[in-house]
Amino acid sequence: MSHWLKIGLAASVGLGMVCSAWAAQSDGLNMREIMVGVIAPATNKIWGAYDIKSDTQWLELDQAANVVIAAAQLTAQGGADGVYAQQAQNEDWQGFVQQLIGAARSAQLAIQNHDEEAMFNAGNDLMYAPCEGCHNIYLPK
Ligand code: HEC
Repeated sequence: MSHWLKIGLAASVGLGMVCSAWAAQSDGLNMREIMVGVIAPATNKIWGAYDIKSDTQWLELDQAANVVIAAAQLTAQGGADGVYAQQAQNEDWQGFVQQLIGAARSAQLAIQNHDEEAMFNAGNDLMYAPCEGCHNIYLPK
């Protein structure tokens, strides 16, 4: 084998490894990543907010509500790896997702009105129930 052919082969093997590493990274979020990495921090921000003073704080809460909604849409598909694809088609799963989106919208409305009490109520009365409902059925034991 010629020297250049060897270098060419080595280069294409190397490129293949880079490509497969990149492909793995570009895979979407799985359920655990959506939950632990996206939903939980965003809902914690809303649940933990009190005595909000600045427009920046309100804006951050508004953004957190958007993150919950976006993550709920991802949850509707059961994550990118297909592990929950089947369960995600169930009516109750989709119902919990819709409940969560509705709750986040209610919290967002309160946030946009700078109404801390209404935000607190939406968070407590509406946003926690779909988490618990879905986990009771689908969280791995
Ligand atoms: C439609 C279903 C569904 C909804 C709604 C849902 N989750 Fe989850 N959640 C899951 C599933 C499924 C897992 C397990 C993922 C895995 O590890 O495979 C999970 C896992 C988690 C975990 C990791 C817990 C652990 O012990 O492994 C956290 C934290 C979490 N969810 C937070 C939340 C919060 C907060 C909400 C509501 C704001 C919520 N989830 C709403 C389905 C849901």
